[in-house]
Amino acid sequence: MCGIVGYVGQAIAAPIILEGLKRLEYRGYDSAGLTVLEDGRFKIAKQIGRVEGLIKSTPAKSLTGSVGIGHTRWATHGGVTNTNAHPHLSSDGKIAIIHNGVIENFTAIKKFLLTKDYAFSSETDTEVLCNLIAYHYAKESEAAPDESRLLDSVRKTLLHVEGTYGICVLCADCPQELIAARQGSPLILGVGQDELVIASDVSALVSRTQNVVYLNDGELVAINGSAFQISTLDKAGVSPVIDQVTWNIEEAELGDFSHFMEKEIFEQPTALENAMRGRFSEDGSTAIFGGLNISAHDLRDTSRLMICACGTALHAGLVTEHLIERFARIPVECDHASEFRYRNTPLFAQTLFFVISQSGETIDTLAAMREAQRKGFKVLAINNGVGSTIARQADGGIYQHAGPEIGVASTKAFTSQLMLGAMLALYLGRLRDMSFRDGVEIVNALKGAPALVRQALEQADHIKTVAQKYARYYDMLFLGRLELFPIASEGALKLKEISYIHAEAYPAAEMKHGPIALINSECPSVFIVPANELFNKVVSSMQEIKARGGPIIAITTSDAEFPPGLADDVITIPCCHEAVLPIVATIPLQLFSYYVAVERGCDVDKPRNLAKSVTVE
Ligand code: AGP
Repeated sequence: MCGIVGYVGQAIAAPIILEGLKRLEYRGYDSAGLTVLEDGRFKIAKQIGRVEGLIKSTPAKSLTGSVGIGHTRWATHGGVTNTNAHPHLSSDGKIAIIHNGVIENFTAIKKFLLTKDYAFSSETDTEVLCNLIAYHYAKESEAAPDESRLLDSVRKTLLHVEGTYGICVLCADCPQELIAARQGSPLILGVGQDELVIASDVSALVSRTQNVVYLNDGELVAINGSAFQISTLDKAGVSPVIDQVTWNIEEAELGDFSHFMEKEIFEQPTALENAMRGRFSEDGSTAIFGGLNISAHDLRDTSRLMICACGTALHAGLVTEHLIERFARIPVECDHASEFRYRNTPLFAQTLFFVISQSGETIDTLAAMREAQRKGFKVLAINNGVGSTIARQADGGIYQHAGPEIGVASTKAFTSQLMLGAMLALYLGRLRDMSFRDGVEIVNALKGAPALVRQALEQADHIKTVAQKYARYYDMLFLGRLELFPIASEGALKLKEISYIHAEAYPAAEMKHGPIALINSECPSVFIVPANELFNKVVSSMQEIKARGGPIIAITTSDAEFPPGLADDVITIPCCHEAVLPIVATIPLQLFSYYVAVERGCDVDKPRNLAKSVTVE
């Protein structure tokens, strides 16, 4: 939620900030703004709408300063208005701030500041934070030497604050200074040639430098010209660890595709190959993971697994639950990360925790992870965001290596999580009772997944035609059984997210216990119905819908045969192993929702009200 960029260097800051904001726009796109410091004055441009609008309305020549900050907003406190857009200025004009996060005690602070004659023009918690810094800055004038006055004011302010923040702060008196700090919201420092860039995500700074420092919660960075110092809220110095970003800017470009979602759907064979690379044993009978940081012996003793995640990543967890129980015979529970934290579920000693997250920054998943760690459990992460907070705070884990995912609707990250979930199930199975032969069979099946996904992608034109036919509907059901129920849930989520069609998923047999009341000619059902042991049962569910006039789309394997006239439209996927089927069955669902959304004229990559990475609770 909200993207932030700050720049201190030799170049003109505005174009660098605006380019960064464009790359961060997936984090929030209600409004955008920037300010640059010129001759002790803040020049501000901000407006509701997309970054593109801000770029068009910001005359490049009018902003020439080489120190500045910019923000793209996903509204939390206060509506989507120009006044609520960031940056915010303190009422004395001294301090400018951008903020990602939520200040929970802002009402009490505001009340205090009103007694000190600070004034507010917006409804935001951020403006309160800004004025509190200004208040401390004014008070610091006698106490602190000039060089640490701004830093001390920010520090004092943050000690009073409850909630989450990633902030960049400028001061009209300090032409070369920028203070940034984080608590619960990601912040990365890019260390370039004579320039320093701060951003919520590496994508915003990778065009300037590939040298980055991932800041931790409770840390501040004080930039002064080309120098920087990192310290904690209690003033302890922190030695920076400079990492190298391993991907380059081209990977985050649209290329020949119309949308990032489309591009990322078609990148899935490669993402699957990257997830598997170097991760099978030499004898080809199991998976190997370098970063789990847990011995085979301890894994062998695990009596239960708990998986926490949100949204699409949760669906990957639910499929993984099925596969681990089947292959490794370990009971698994999969829960919404947001619920786990407050649920107070009894936990057994030999439980191993997994969290799954594309971004590695989802606050609910992070909080669930911390809650499990607080209780003394090890938490491992399946995660795509290299250097993300979850990656750094987990006790071990598996990187997805799916490359940057920009489209708000997760696609390639999901199938890559499914692949790693299947590999994990295989690995745990082989540590227990799974035979060498069964292991080899699964490894070979998984290795064949990219080719099968390519075949499924070849259906794109047919799926487009089907999608165009169904784009006018307002309600849809998605039905599947066992591990294909979470895949149905993912199909429904994709459709809801990007085309705003109401969609619900149910286990196919559950449909007759209530949802069948929705069925009529205006409510199509999408069945995921491979020719497996439950085929006839699912066909019966299809008959029940057909008998009530509901249109049916069947996603099925090439060996299936339906009673004539049962399905109105059939989308065929190749036959595959049960470990791979969830991955392959996902492809037509992604394409279907993508083409429906395009047909309806929706903004596929930036659907309304959503943000890619949800860093507020
Ligand atoms: C996916 O299409 C969604 N936008 C959303 O549900 C997402 O999967 C969820 O917010 C979790 O994100 P994460 O994987 O980055 O933790």
